[in-house]
Amino acid sequence: MLRSINKVSGFKGLFLEPYVTSMQVSCNYASAKSNVNVQNLPRLPVPKLKDTLAKYLLTVRPFLNDDEYAKTTTLVKDFEQGLGKKLQGLLEKRAEQHVNWLEDWWLNTAYLEYRDPVVVYSSPGLMFPCRKFNNQNDQLQYAAKTLLAALEYKSLIDNDKIPLEMMGKSPLDMGQYKKVFGTCRIPWEKRDKLSFNSHSRHVTVIHNNHIFRIDLWGEDNVVLSEEQIVKQLKKIVELSSTPNNEGIGILTSENRDNWAKAYQLLSKDNTNRESLADVETSIVVLCLDAAAGLSKCADDDARRTLCGGQTIHGGGSKSNGGNRWFDKTIQFIVGADGLTGLTYEHSPAEGQPIAVLTDFIIKFIEQNKGGASASSSPKPPVALKFNVTTEVSNMIKDAKNNLDKLVGNLELNCFQYNKYGKNFIKSQKLSPDSYLQMAMQYAFYRLHKVPGAHYESAATRMYAGGRTETIRSCSIESVNFAKTMLNAQSSPKEKNAALKSAINSHKNYTVQALQGLGVDRHLLGLKLTALENGIDLHKLYSDVSYTRSTHMRISTSQVALKSDGLMSYGPLVPDGYATCYNPRDNDVNFATSAFVAHPDTACSKYRNALEQSLQDMHDVLLQNTPSKL
Ligand code: COA
Repeated sequence: MLRSINKVSGFKGLFLEPYVTSMQVSCNYASAKSNVNVQNLPRLPVPKLKDTLAKYLLTVRPFLNDDEYAKTTTLVKDFEQGLGKKLQGLLEKRAEQHVNWLEDWWLNTAYLEYRDPVVVYSSPGLMFPCRKFNNQNDQLQYAAKTLLAALEYKSLIDNDKIPLEMMGKSPLDMGQYKKVFGTCRIPWEKRDKLSFNSHSRHVTVIHNNHIFRIDLWGEDNVVLSEEQIVKQLKKIVELSSTPNNEGIGILTSENRDNWAKAYQLLSKDNTNRESLADVETSIVVLCLDAAAGLSKCADDDARRTLCGGQTIHGGGSKSNGGNRWFDKTIQFIVGADGLTGLTYEHSPAEGQPIAVLTDFIIKFIEQNKGGASASSSPKPPVALKFNVTTEVSNMIKDAKNNLDKLVGNLELNCFQYNKYGKNFIKSQKLSPDSYLQMAMQYAFYRLHKVPGAHYESAATRMYAGGRTETIRSCSIESVNFAKTMLNAQSSPKEKNAALKSAINSHKNYTVQALQGLGVDRHLLGLKLTALENGIDLHKLYSDVSYTRSTHMRISTSQVALKSDGLMSYGPLVPDGYATCYNPRDNDVNFATSAFVAHPDTACSKYRNALEQSLQDMHDVLLQNTPSKL
């Protein structure tokens, strides 16, 4: 998932500034920013221009007729022999000067300069398995355990004790883990900032839209016990028994320029400045939510879908949408009715480290590993005060309306496909990820009868500061596969061959993307090189091949969790779908979404098409190799 780079306009040049920019914050720049290559990892390569353009022509073919393809081929040749060559030279020079030539550009263009709200458009939700809370004490106890688990994990991160992740024999960049705690996005006109505080010792707690601070260490420098944290949370609940209609948390769900304006107004007041800094420098936010209707859900999928919405957007201003600080990298959600999970602000890290953290927390709680210590001198919770002027109060009203519109426009359908999972696919000697991607291609084609440009994130963490590359999952082979499956005249053998060819083609692209040899980041790098050097963009960037192949109607991401959790997020384009999935041994959790306002897309239809496609693919394989589900 990403912010659509195509929407990035007005890139005015290089504004390199440290990753950490907030004045109030104590910074640990070296450990948070991977421009220092602490792991001595290889550097992200700049692919050869010739290779990228050849790959580009292959990936755009499904979206063009013969005439269009001929014109695109001419444009590509012109780019390769002229301007592209010059830009490639400049980009290679940049790559010599930066540990990772893309890292700062990506952070800015994909995230910090993006002006749409982080809610729905950028920040994913991650639901944890639902809990059964019999009373408020259960809720607060679970919340306290979550904080202690997070603290334990933070200590592992701070002490470089989390296991080094590998891809085959290649170690992966672990820098993203260092950025998840103590980080906060700060709204700023044109480009947001990120603040980072590695020495943080307090958390922010939000209840009924009131914002508090809890110090997790007492005066004696000892961490609070679970019981002591529960006591603090109880106090907070007592102090905030009625909803705060002027809660400013909802402003964080706004368009970034609107929020930046409100932030500047709030910052004129000393008390506000201190309270804002308190939230920004905290380790995480804990949202003690009101019941969201879990008990009314008819089944597990209805519960998953409700959890998806609550963790993405909080259900709007009348539900828990104001009980948030969406700028914080991690906000844990613990609802009164057992709905648990987190929302994460995407700019500092990808979903995978967050998924690993989630598995750790869930296991920690299951094993009931409370902290052994108890402080002899806990500090009482502090209510953070905000002075709200009439102007800001009006902005809060607008924010409520805008969030409610966003919520009303997002259709979600989260479900577990439990007929088979990775084990069956592996037994067929196929890559589970490529197989599932082809199921999505087939589902889209089945519904819309046109190829769907399709984004999948591949991690480029084998390189220092690496984040993602796009796997262009729509290929000549994937379209042929969908057409073959839908053709009543196709034989089982033809279907089987088309399926395997599509999967192999996807796997092939994946292997290249993981090595940083995809099409999209390289073309972005060349584009930004041109803009930075005041060079007009080549016509290739406005060609139909470019606009169609980057209009990602299917935005997908595998976020693997061992637990029964699931990440979800919104589509990239108005007429698109999002699909986040967690393939497990014998089932696959899917979170799909679409925008209600677009007449061409509907989540329920997409889900049906996806389930039907998975069934068809299974049947085709079994017709050739009998095996049991
Ligand atoms: N036959 C049998 N088994 C196979 C196989 C085949 N032909 N091909 C793959 N497998 C096995 C693999 O060995 C692996 O086994 P394991 O479960 O024991 O580890 C398993 O199937 C899964 O492999 P596969 O499905 O091919 O790919 P993957 O799980 O490595 O995922 C990506 C591929 C691209 C999703 C992954 O590399 C990646 O980049 N993930 C991060 C994505 C990301 O950034 N998400 C967050 C964005 S916010």
